[in-house]
Amino acid sequence: MKKIDIRIPAKEYPVFIGANIFDSLEKIIRIKKLSRNLFMIIDRKVMNLYRDDIKRFSSNFSGKIFINEFDASEANKSYLELAKIYNDLIAIGYGRDSLIVAIGGGITGDIAGFAASTFARGIQFVQVPTTLLAAVDSSVGGKTGINFGETKNIIGAFHQPEFVLIDTEFLKTLPEEEIICGIGEIVKYAFLSDKKFFELLKNNFHKLLELDSTFTTRAIETCIKFKGDVVAKDEKESGLRKILNLGHTFAHAIEVEQNYLIKHGQAVVVGLACALELSRRTGLLSEKLFTQYLQLPFMFKDKITLNAFDPLQIYEIMKRDKKGRENRIKFVLLKEIGRLIVDVEAEKDEVIYCLNKSLALFIK
Ligand code: GLY
Repeated sequence: MKKIDIRIPAKEYPVFIGANIFDSLEKIIRIKKLSRNLFMIIDRKVMNLYRDDIKRFSSNFSGKIFINEFDASEANKSYLELAKIYNDLIAIGYGRDSLIVAIGGGITGDIAGFAASTFARGIQFVQVPTTLLAAVDSSVGGKTGINFGETKNIIGAFHQPEFVLIDTEFLKTLPEEEIICGIGEIVKYAFLSDKKFFELLKNNFHKLLELDSTFTTRAIETCIKFKGDVVAKDEKESGLRKILNLGHTFAHAIEVEQNYLIKHGQAVVVGLACALELSRRTGLLSEKLFTQYLQLPFMFKDKITLNAFDPLQIYEIMKRDKKGRENRIKFVLLKEIGRLIVDVEAEKDEVIYCLNKSLALFIK
């Protein structure tokens, strides 16, 4: 089992990565002297697939356990579902001395983390991500939240977990669509970190698709170490952390405009293509590098299909995005791998041009 320490000044915590390490959950809770009043929020799909493992854990656990099965979807990342969690917590008499354990993908981790950040003025929680996307990105860094109306993640809080446990065995039952989502977020890290990681991913893309255990674990570790360093320097996203939103301003709006028919990680790939195009159009990124870099999002061409889209509507959704101040959209753009520029504003016509050109790559 590997351990990466996330060294946020206000709170350090470990991320454990390994195959078949779910059984260590109890031991880590014990060693870290966390509350033994467990409230487990588990994606129902994961529960159905791993019922035996979860049952074995709960029958061996020496404290109290309540299991809340959650139907993870963007629509259910809502205050109505959040209210059900609060109701359950109150009904079973849990208070400040309780521990939420989130088992599932990013949606489950986000709503569970937000429940933990607000219930009884904040309780401890643990992340057990079961999707590749949650493992490489959303389970680390303490962003928690829910959607409201049509706006993604607009209600939320920063609340760091006590630890993160990534058991790569969970990844083995992921449908291809989910693996694509995770790879999408890994590709984002390729643009943020260094050329070596970019080339490594480009040359070993198939290994990620096949979930080659050694390569996938290595990719997860690289992303988490990179993210951990960024978040340690800027937990609350006042500057540096904004780079982690590369492609996301586009992606969030595309997801909404497409009525969530494509998933977050897929939208991130399309968003990365848009961000590269806008970086080129604004003169930040050379033609030569643009052509090289686009190769990676282009590798998803047969794996992501968009419906007919309305660029104006996507633009309007972006304007409403919480990261835009004074109604102006701020983009994260790229000069070259590892050299990001944040808070870039762009002309509406340019944005529309980039949407039209980049989204067309994914229309069949
Ligand atoms: N996924 C972006 C962040 O955690 O800041």
